[in-house]
Amino acid sequence: MQQRPRRNRKSAAIRSLVRETSLQVDHLIYPFFLVDSKNHKEEVSSLPGNYRWSIDMLLKELEECQKLGLKHFMLFPKIKEEHKDATGSFSYNENNYYLQAAKKIKQEFPDVNLISDVALDPYSIHGHDGIVDNGVILNDETVDVLVDMSIAQAEAGFDMIGPSDMMDGRVGAIRQGLDENGFSNTSILAYTAKYASAFYGPFRDALDSAPVDDPNIPKDKKTYQMDPANKSEALIEAEQDELEGADILMVKPALHYLDVIQTLKKNTNLPISAYHVSGECAMLIAACQKGWLDYETAMPETLLSIRRAGTDAIITYFAKDYAKMVADGKL
Ligand code: PBG
Repeated sequence: MQQRPRRNRKSAAIRSLVRETSLQVDHLIYPFFLVDSKNHKEEVSSLPGNYRWSIDMLLKELEECQKLGLKHFMLFPKIKEEHKDATGSFSYNENNYYLQAAKKIKQEFPDVNLISDVALDPYSIHGHDGIVDNGVILNDETVDVLVDMSIAQAEAGFDMIGPSDMMDGRVGAIRQGLDENGFSNTSILAYTAKYASAFYGPFRDALDSAPVDDPNIPKDKKTYQMDPANKSEALIEAEQDELEGADILMVKPALHYLDVIQTLKKNTNLPISAYHVSGECAMLIAACQKGWLDYETAMPETLLSIRRAGTDAIITYFAKDYAKMVADGKL
């Protein structure tokens, strides 16, 4: 036998020498759900280990996370019913607790990379990412709101703006709006290939942001989020986002779309991120709770697969657990 591939696997030292992919805590972005409250930390039942936080509690958590080396954080707001309307106008209202929370975080921790969410769904009475008119999601009218929301978020101090809405042309419009308002340094992390996926359930529970049950409101997001069957279309989205000024592209979900990640990585020089979404994490947590899988081996293997497919950055609810394992010398 000329080739015995097992020779490169014969010891931990040699395996470490020839390991092709590494995943560092630097690559991880940790998402948080924020509520307008005080002294509040409430577990999301469909995503164990993840919570709805009030800002006072979250500041302490962020401190702990930073001790573990985490520095990229994404914030998603749960908005009170009384602040929801048809056009999501509370999103750029200066009394929006989400914007105030971002200010506090950046005051206390100027070095963290804080990433926003831009979309109408938390703020809208229908739960759609855009304005709904006679059952149709209006594109250009929505983009105007997204631009106002983005400028307000940049003003609040977010380092990166994260449009998760999938309206056409929004990256370019947001870029222009930011530049014209003195925020040419604020980055755009574009949700480039975001699919109409079944795996967002726990996230919508956490924020109470699912489309409402109403015959005049579309039940799903298929007229703006992508068809899970499509890959070439992801390249069209990527080309657009790149031309429109995105700084980082994203594929979402991650695990079920590793081929899309790989394709995008091959076709752009921009960094690629992937959102390891709530349902993907919840599946693994549930299997581990049942004793069917081992969390400390299955979780890092999962994250590694997303990295191996070609991502630079991974948004995952497992970020802190991974960082803890690294800190404990287990990885
Ligand atoms: C909505 C948004 C969603 C997620 C992030 N932003 C849900 C949706 O599109 O309905 C899902 C993230 C997750 O499941 O972890 N703008």
